[in-house]
Amino acid sequence: MRGSENHGGPAPLPGGSAQGGLHVAIIMDGNGRWARARGLPRVAGHRAGAQAVRRTIEAAPKLGIRTLTLYAFSSDNWQRPAQEVSTLMQLFHEYLERETPECVKHGIRLSVIGRRDRLAPELRRAIQRAEEATAGGRNLHLRIAVDYSARDAIVRAAHRVNGRRIGRAGFARLLGEAIHAGEPVPDVDLLIRTGGEQRLSDFLLWECAYAELYFTPRMWPDFEGKDLEEAVREFHRRERRFGRVLEAAG
Ligand code: FPP
Repeated sequence: MRGSENHGGPAPLPGGSAQGGLHVAIIMDGNGRWARARGLPRVAGHRAGAQAVRRTIEAAPKLGIRTLTLYAFSSDNWQRPAQEVSTLMQLFHEYLERETPECVKHGIRLSVIGRRDRLAPELRRAIQRAEEATAGGRNLHLRIAVDYSARDAIVRAAHRVNGRRIGRAGFARLLGEAIHAGEPVPDVDLLIRTGGEQRLSDFLLWECAYAELYFTPRMWPDFEGKDLEEAVREFHRRERRFGRVLEAAG
């Protein structure tokens, strides 16, 4: 798909994909370096990162994004210093309590994907409350990945196959169940990683099979609505063929 030519000012953004809006996934990297550059503790970077989450969610629906999956805490992040882990968990908890009414107000459905069994019971309860309260949201499906590992999820889904002959859609369903995602969402259209690194870090490996990848040096706490807009514009300039030749891809 190619966007229209740009004649000076920014062209209006086309809407989302045929499936009813884009699925954008973001690896929010650079909080620690952002803090260090300012002589602050790493956790200050995470707190500033939570503000960037807010800005991103505000900007997303206007850009044709219908599903937004944010990588907040990988299963490997448990290996970080205990104080950083507990601050991050506290931030998620605070976020859920504070933002759930806002999500309800703005039609945002909130889900948390990943393992639940290693989270504190009170955080699990807050997740459940937030998911139930926002279940009717239709403007944006916000998915926050916590204790998430794509490879672990694939292994868990593979166990559930249990010798049956299932196709890709069937496997995607099992994968959704393995990460408490409920019904499957469309594959990722655009994967953004901030912070200058260019890797996937065990995020949505199945769902990103044909995702366009977009890497930016911007540290996550500095990420603004206009950065998201630039990434979406770049996405619309890409030619997606899904393995076919252009004429057949339409
Ligand atoms: C990666 O940066 C970031 C994380 C592991 C945590 C992401 C958390 C947030 C953005 C804050 C809260 C989120 C929500 C949803 C409320 P890093 O610490 O690895 O940065 P570095 O590479 O510069 O060290």
